[in-house]
Amino acid sequence: MTSAETSHAVAPGTLADRIVAGHFGVSGGQLSIGGIPADALVTAHGSPLFVYDGDMIEARFDVLQAAVGRFAKVYYSIKANPNPAVAALLVARGAGLEIASGAEFKLAVAAGALPAEIIFAGPGKGEDELDLAIGAGISEIHLESFEEIALVAAIAARHGCVADVAIRINPGAEAQGGAMRMGGRPAAFGFDEETLGDVIAAVAAQASLRLSGVHLFAGTQILDAEVVLRQWTHGLRLAAEVTRLSGRALDRIDLGGGLGIPYHDGDATIDLARLAAGAVALDRSRRADPLLASAEVLIEPGRYLVGPCGVYLMRVRAVKQSRGQRFVIADGGMHHHLAASGNLGQVIKRDYPIVAASRMGETERASATLCGPLCTPLDTLGRQTTLPLLAAGDIVGVMQSGAYGLSASPVGFLSHPMPAEVLVRGGAHRCIRSRGNFDEPLVNQPWRR
Ligand SMILES: Cc1ncc(COP(=O)(O)O)c(C=O)c1O
Repeated sequence: MTSAETSHAVAPGTLADRIVAGHFGVSGGQLSIGGIPADALVTAHGSPLFVYDGDMIEARFDVLQAAVGRFAKVYYSIKANPNPAVAALLVARGAGLEIASGAEFKLAVAAGALPAEIIFAGPGKGEDELDLAIGAGISEIHLESFEEIALVAAIAARHGCVADVAIRINPGAEAQGGAMRMGGRPAAFGFDEETLGDVIAAVAAQASLRLSGVHLFAGTQILDAEVVLRQWTHGLRLAAEVTRLSGRALDRIDLGGGLGIPYHDGDATIDLARLAAGAVALDRSRRADPLLASAEVLIEPGRYLVGPCGVYLMRVRAVKQSRGQRFVIADGGMHHHLAASGNLGQVIKRDYPIVAASRMGETERASATLCGPLCTPLDTLGRQTTLPLLAAGDIVGVMQSGAYGLSASPVGFLSHPMPAEVLVRGGAHRCIRSRGNFDEPLVNQPWRR
């Protein structure tokens, strides 16, 4: 990680330039990812392609864990990138995992996590999913409704165990912040902070539940360390309140994820030094508070750990002019990378950082609209790009693509092939999900009969 990562200031140059200079590199005119040129990766694994730099994932975990230090243990929110090879790097580094489905539980276990290192949140968990996780001895279930309190209690009783549970709290307005808010307003997630007394009573009434924690997660893509610290402070205050109301010490205080990364020119990077200083102060006050002294604090970021480590590579299929505008049409698009097309909840569609991965350093550039192969104008990844004069066969890279990429995209839309995923580590690359045809699983389905 470069010094730019700890600085709040926006450095000169385009974001794409800074990202390439800071974390990637250029060799022979090619974008290089973990030391491997883009054309070698595309030749070996096909196009389009997600590539993740495993060394960088490990480094980001280490830097963040060091920054929050004694204050909090870092869990990885596997929804950001559920490929088990990616999660396995973080598990081996000491991360716990936060999951949101039964399938994510299986992926977490496949990645090497022990059930005792996994926590499970989500507003509408299914009985089969809970049964799987509780039966396997998951560390903690995060309760989000009164129905779920009864369901988890019944499942735990069936398994003859007492399940550790946390109350997920939808915090009050002062904890707001971030691009997509999950709390601090009416929301489907968790229980409103104002109803805590009733929730604690409902949990206490179940003999097969043990109140072990609280969980807050107010929003994602927060670029301001002060907002994060305000939410953490509020989380500790609520944890003390739950301890007081329930009359028992908590094991865990989960302060959520939400640390953001820059996607657009002008976006700041989160001030890690400020976060670290704030964490020291919070740690001191938590340890001094008898209501909180014995609890472990954790945070569960996803995007921050893996987002900057991924690149989505596509080959150009055609370049054409339409009424004076240049269109570059690639073999990849919104069906693999919805977020980069601006259709994953963004109000304003702004381009991710885009590079001409096979023509790095070329100075002759012109504006271009970068489109995917789908028959919809939504399939546009670059609205205001300035790219070299690309031709069919060239490679384009969308940076900051390691989080909420493939698994957050409508891969079935128009039934194009699924892209491969590749992990680069220690100068070597390996396929961690092979290319596939979307139609393959369907052709032998019951519709034939
Ligand atoms: C409960 C929970 N925890 C953690 C995360 C990870 O958020 P981020 O990737 O912004 O860190 C999410 C994302 O939606 C979430 O819902």
